[in-house]
Amino acid sequence: MKPISRRAALTLGSLGVAGTAIGGAGLIWSGREGQGAAGGQAPDSAFGAVPGDTLRQPSELRSADGLLEVKLDAAPGRVTIGGRGATTLGYNGGLPGPTLRVRAGDRVAVRLHNGLAEATNLHVHGLHVSPAGNGDNPFVMVEPGDSFDYEYRLPADHPPGLYWYHPHHHGLVADQVFGGLYGAIIVDDPGPIPAARERVLVISDITLDESGNLTRSSLGERMRGREGELVLVNGQLKPNLGMRPGERERWRIVNVCVSRYLRLRLDGQDLRLLGLDSGRFEAPESVDEVLLAPGNRADLWVTAAEGDGVLRAVAYDRGSAGMGGMMGGDALGGTTGIIDLATVTVAGAGVAALPSFPAQRKPVDLRGAAVTARREFVFAMGMGGGMGGGMAFTINGREFDGGRVDTTVRGGSVEEWTLTNATQMDHPMHLHVWPMQIIERDGRSVDSVLWQDVVNVPARGVVRVRIDFTGFPGKTVYHCHILDHEDNGMMGVIDVRPADQPLA
Ligand code: C2O
Ligand code: CU
Ligand code: CU
Repeated sequence: MKPISRRAALTLGSLGVAGTAIGGAGLIWSGREGQGAAGGQAPDSAFGAVPGDTLRQPSELRSADGLLEVKLDAAPGRVTIGGRGATTLGYNGGLPGPTLRVRAGDRVAVRLHNGLAEATNLHVHGLHVSPAGNGDNPFVMVEPGDSFDYEYRLPADHPPGLYWYHPHHHGLVADQVFGGLYGAIIVDDPGPIPAARERVLVISDITLDESGNLTRSSLGERMRGREGELVLVNGQLKPNLGMRPGERERWRIVNVCVSRYLRLRLDGQDLRLLGLDSGRFEAPESVDEVLLAPGNRADLWVTAAEGDGVLRAVAYDRGSAGMGGMMGGDALGGTTGIIDLATVTVAGAGVAALPSFPAQRKPVDLRGAAVTARREFVFAMGMGGGMGGGMAFTINGREFDGGRVDTTVRGGSVEEWTLTNATQMDHPMHLHVWPMQIIERDGRSVDSVLWQDVVNVPARGVVRVRIDFTGFPGKTVYHCHILDHEDNGMMGVIDVRPADQPLA
């Protein structure tokens, strides 16, 4: 995942982009477009909101005096999507759940209540907090009807940025995230970043049947990684947002899709990327598009030019699961067409330009650091998975086993990991708690300081990263963030030992 320069985008722009990927149910749902505005002749106009509604912001819960205490109830609920009623999952009845807004140094106490019919738990994706005990511990299991009290203590130097939360109970992660369990976390900047307005854009996908119920995924979809027929922004189908000419907004975008890559464009408007994941650039980078693998975030300045715009996800080929004949042919391909996500209406009097980007803390650069250990992680697929005739998804030849430690690391060390993709499809590699600095892609060194917590490893590609395992000893996981692959076994356990203890 990387920002694409203007020059590169010109070449990419000439690639064929086929029609939309929206299938059966998607047509029914998106077919409501414009009907509301035309006077609501559709028989189900009583459903209320229609596509083209103003973009909403999720509700926001904000810390005060260093503490944020929240209750999150994971449960099924009734929502309106594209003017029709639907039954999805959600936190506190919202799709997405509430945005948690905190500051470095805060303590965050979350009481998670499980109102689902199956086990769940909670993960705070990207936060640099302890994975032990009732911290960001992916091994916690909360049974239906039970509650669990999580506590996260953000260090005083925690990087500002956009993070997110979602369930992490192995085997059910894809189903629960696809169903609607996700929400944003913002760690505020220490100083202001000038923008007329700040918006959170949580981009998800989902598939619903004609009655608005969640559909079950097929074996093929779980092998490839399911992509929903509807792509939503803050739970809305193709919402609209208004800007004035010359106005600059800050958009914080998170890709919470289970498997869909978002190659985002907003042609005609001025886009400057402030950073990706928790990695803040020293200066904003002018971009034509941004590619977000599942789990990635973008921090974007959007300055409105004259003329309206459409936020689009354009085609991205993430490869295929192969074995086409066996698994149902091209259903295993991972290429999607153009999807309109939101419209931007630019109108009204022009506004004066805002001050430029304030100086940022210089990012840590591990390229010159002394490396304590080097490891390789090979992402592969083979026959004989545990899911009844499917494929096995492995890292270094092994499927996930929560009772096994795959990687033992000494706290405080700097390691270099080589991520090797032995398959025909991309795998976005994610490590909890510790961000990764990308130093090399397919043998070419990266010439800027690039920190991400989800690093895309393209089909047959090799990516090299460095990680500083400072702070927070404990056990956690790394995995492919195509959550179907994670549920199918593409995950390993890492144990980071206290710096002063033998590795044993
Ligand atoms: Cu966003 Cu282990 O995941
Ligand atoms: Cu995570
Ligand atoms: Cu994968």
